Amino acid sequence: MKKQNIKTGPAHVAIIMDGNGRWARQRGKPRLFGHHAGARRVREIVRSCPDLGVKYLTIFAFSTENWRRTQTEVAGLMSLFRRYITREAQALFRENVRVRFIGDRIKLDDKLVALMDELELLTAGNDGTHLTIALNYGGRDEVARATKRLAREVKAGRVDPETVDGETLAHYLDTYFLPDPDLVIRTSGEARISNFLLWQSAYAEYEFIDTLWPDFSEEIFARIVTGFGRRERRYGAVLA
Ligand code: FPP
Repeated sequence: MKKQNIKTGPAHVAIIMDGNGRWARQRGKPRLFGHHAGARRVREIVRSCPDLGVKYLTIFAFSTENWRRTQTEVAGLMSLFRRYITREAQALFRENVRVRFIGDRIKLDDKLVALMDELELLTAGNDGTHLTIALNYGGRDEVARATKRLAREVKAGRVDPETVDGETLAHYLDTYFLPDPDLVIRTSGEARISNFLLWQSAYAEYEFIDTLWPDFSEEIFARIVTGFGRRERRYGAVLA
């Protein structure tokens, strides 16, 4: 785990984008209307990262539990993800954003997976904001998949089980290429982490705010990120 100077802002911010459904209901609209409004916010927040010094942004777009929603909502969200990738790809590339996806791709449809692969490839050479989109992602599922991969390596005689520690496991997680999040934000008033980055957020700060995701603005994001610099993070130690 990398230690961070307590006076600097968060290099890695993770966001649980909650409240799209309620936002739509308040307007007498279907839930998908809220998801579309939420997607527009994603665009705005990604663009604001360079000015705020946020190098890594990880967003929770679809969880392993979200399949339990109605078929209409799941299909609508999948179509929204396809559209978002298709429409945003060139802009993300031009803005030097490097996009990667985490989560289990096995349950996602082939067309969507192909678009995800293409966007990862297109932006592979970018080194501005690192945007990671969690799609069919669950923290426990991720740890289970990582453990399975590690167990295979042990079985094949390529890893000595006696050498396995936290760092070894982290290497098998979907997030092997990311530093741990410094700050996790959840919108819409729920104080839960809902299976998001369970392993990675062991030392993260949490910020739970009442704003519904489609109302989450660049200004609110800036206020939270700036406020973070005033916190003292001790990582279990006592600072002099
Ligand atoms: C939670 O709100 C939101 C989701 C499950 C989907 C998140 C998706 C987006 C913000 C759309 C765009 C994302 C990308 C990457 C283009 P909710 O439906 O649980 O709201 P509720 O709690 O009010 O019902």
